[in-house]
Amino acid sequence: MSKIPVWMDCDTGTDDAVAIMLASYLDELDLLGISTACGNTIQENAYWNTHRINRLIGTNYPVYRGAEKPLIVPLVTGAHIHGENGLGDVDLPLPEHPVVQKESAWDALYACAKAHPHALRLVATAPLTNIAIAFTKYPELPALLHSVNLMGGSAGVGNITPAAEYNMYVDPQAADIVFRSGAKIYMFGLDVTLQACLSMEDVDELEASGKPAGIFTKACLMHSWPVLSKFGETGFCMHDSCPVMYLAYPELFEGEEAGVVVETRGTITNGKTVTDIYSDKQFPFSNAMVMLKLDRERFISILKTAIMNV
Ligand code: RIB
Ligand code: CA
Repeated sequence: MSKIPVWMDCDTGTDDAVAIMLASYLDELDLLGISTACGNTIQENAYWNTHRINRLIGTNYPVYRGAEKPLIVPLVTGAHIHGENGLGDVDLPLPEHPVVQKESAWDALYACAKAHPHALRLVATAPLTNIAIAFTKYPELPALLHSVNLMGGSAGVGNITPAAEYNMYVDPQAADIVFRSGAKIYMFGLDVTLQACLSMEDVDELEASGKPAGIFTKACLMHSWPVLSKFGETGFCMHDSCPVMYLAYPELFEGEEAGVVVETRGTITNGKTVTDIYSDKQFPFSNAMVMLKLDRERFISILKTAIMNV
């Protein structure tokens, strides 16, 4: 069985780092490149953090630098969760000889999609700035991709505001471009990713494995614990692993085709992904498969195995 060609766009960030570990572990996937976005942290950190994760897990994924800021709005980082350096303020070493690619994120993504026509799965685990730039510069790209698995949005609650999920909120204009692009979108929003949480016992198990990736994962996630526990959270949601896991284990997820529109002019609701799933008033189009349910037990079991064996 040939491997599934994959491209990731990450704002490496703690759960982005875990998603890269998962992608590396899953034999079904062939991760061809990682582009970096600003979001959880500034671009400079997201870019070099991705190199750091390459070193941690012994991979050499090519890393391509993306946009320094969102399309229109000022950058709002996630330092309260991901730390100032984006990796929970854990000090991970850089590779001795990191390869600095000259191509931009959007040019490299397009070149990869052309090399794998209608087969490349784009996994977006960050604000969608780079993807929007790529789709605008190369209008044929949405149809050239097999699909876009994006972590973002929600049919229900927000997490950065009561209305909006973080990735959509950070760059609403970019999200609007992507949802209008005609690409085949699988949306892994908070409706499903809030089910994908590692418990404190799970992260203790990762640390107790003595494996570098397990030790790092607990250490970087613990930075967020004071904030999460204040909100009454009981674990660490591995949001970004959901769109990756789906590629190898789609049976763990259930969703519904729906119309999704991004609010770009709201004050209270800016960045909200408005879906018609729970409404008797339907949009006259359906532009995404919105994931709603997860087999958490199997998800967490596979994810822990991946982190401890990557
Ligand atoms: O809302 C969760 C998303 O925001 C995840 O991608 C996390 O990494 C942050 O970017
Ligand atoms: Ca992310």
